[in-house]
Amino acid sequence: MTYVIREALEIAAEDNLAELLARRRRLLGPNVPTFYEHPLHIVRGNGVWLWDSRGRKYLDCYNNVPHVGHCHPRVVEAIAQQCGTLNTHTRYVHDAILEYFEKLLTKFHRQLGSGILTCSGSEANDVALRMAQVFTNRTGIVATDNTYHGNTALVSQLSDKNAHIGGDASNVVRIAAPVGQATRYQDMPEDESQCFAGSVSDAIALLESRGRGCAALIVCPYFANEGFPALPEGFLSLACARVRAAGGLVICDEVQPGFGRLGSHFWGHERAGIQPDIVTLGKPMGNGHPVAGIVARSDVLAAFRRVFRYFNTFGGNPVAVAAARATLETIEDEGLVDNALRTGRYARQQLRHLAGKWPVLGAVRGSGLYFGVEICDVDCLPDPRLASRLINAMRHTGVLVSTTGRFGSLLKIRPPMPIAAEEIDMLVDSLDNSLRSMQ
Ligand SMILES: Cc1ncc(COP(=O)(O)O)c(C=O)c1O
Repeated sequence: MTYVIREALEIAAEDNLAELLARRRRLLGPNVPTFYEHPLHIVRGNGVWLWDSRGRKYLDCYNNVPHVGHCHPRVVEAIAQQCGTLNTHTRYVHDAILEYFEKLLTKFHRQLGSGILTCSGSEANDVALRMAQVFTNRTGIVATDNTYHGNTALVSQLSDKNAHIGGDASNVVRIAAPVGQATRYQDMPEDESQCFAGSVSDAIALLESRGRGCAALIVCPYFANEGFPALPEGFLSLACARVRAAGGLVICDEVQPGFGRLGSHFWGHERAGIQPDIVTLGKPMGNGHPVAGIVARSDVLAAFRRVFRYFNTFGGNPVAVAAARATLETIEDEGLVDNALRTGRYARQQLRHLAGKWPVLGAVRGSGLYFGVEICDVDCLPDPRLASRLINAMRHTGVLVSTTGRFGSLLKIRPPMPIAAEEIDMLVDSLDNSLRSMQ
């Protein structure tokens, strides 16, 4: 631990970190979030590696946006080529966006037949909600309470994590996200699937009593931001049936689990065994270039287009599409979904092995390359303080991870998709060494 503290002080001094942070505060305003007690000044990336301003190398086990690896040459080349040829917007006819959708839609059930491109996941969710509202002619929305779907006025109502300016919207009801059975310290309710569906029914009844009706249930099918609880197969099916019976639509936010990260399936909703009416996409879609979007039932999207027309100056421009297409092709050509399945399994096996040695390591869970381990105290209760100390210690060993979950006690591990078994070994060694340094 002494080593860790000395290292941190050296970083702060050599890097003029304090000065950079003061400039950020002055120019960007207060409370701009940073990772780690001693924030990183990253200047370069390649594959699963990042370098700071002192030339120190970090294994990136956190960033899911550089999906096919930081600065993947194929994506860089596609962006550069298109940038040097043309960049306009969707009011001109362009074939690239059509070719992209033709390819993307093959990844979905045929019922989802058209889409819209936006610049962020927040915009995609905002549009998805409005699509459901127009289509159903109702305004009520059911969401889970402890997630994050983005930052527009409408979307920020979907989580208790954000302040709701002007109070809670009466057309949104947030229900408790599932807890799952994989924690050491919480018993799963008898049938969590029934329980969750019951909460959805109660929310629908409340929305109906307010004259709002049910337009949609929006969920991340992996409950990624809620700590990806281990849930029984078919967990969401009953809840979706209740929504449909009330005339609402099901929106799956695939911003986190999508594009093959879960290894077993290309989309989180496939893994969950449900068929959504609308799917939203983001983060990994353009490997860091701002591309996000919505894929929906054609009748739902057409209803929205008739009312809103919808134009987004930058959404779906040729450069964004080039980035998205190169990303999708790289996922396929490099077999990254298989890698997520294989390497993710290996990682969880190694973490379970380590958990046998350290009692503070609780349940290891997740799927593909989206996984984590609960950090517990001596009573097997969630220990967010220790989790925070751990990620800071790991950062000083050159490995980047973060925390998530309702209590902030789950180590969140989501590396770029090409990560190899040797790099997983470095991650596990870093966790082991960091735990030892704290003794
Ligand atoms: C599940 C989920 N949906 C939507 C968003 C918002 O995406 P963006 O930051 O691109 O607006 C996020 C961002 O973290 C997210 O995790």
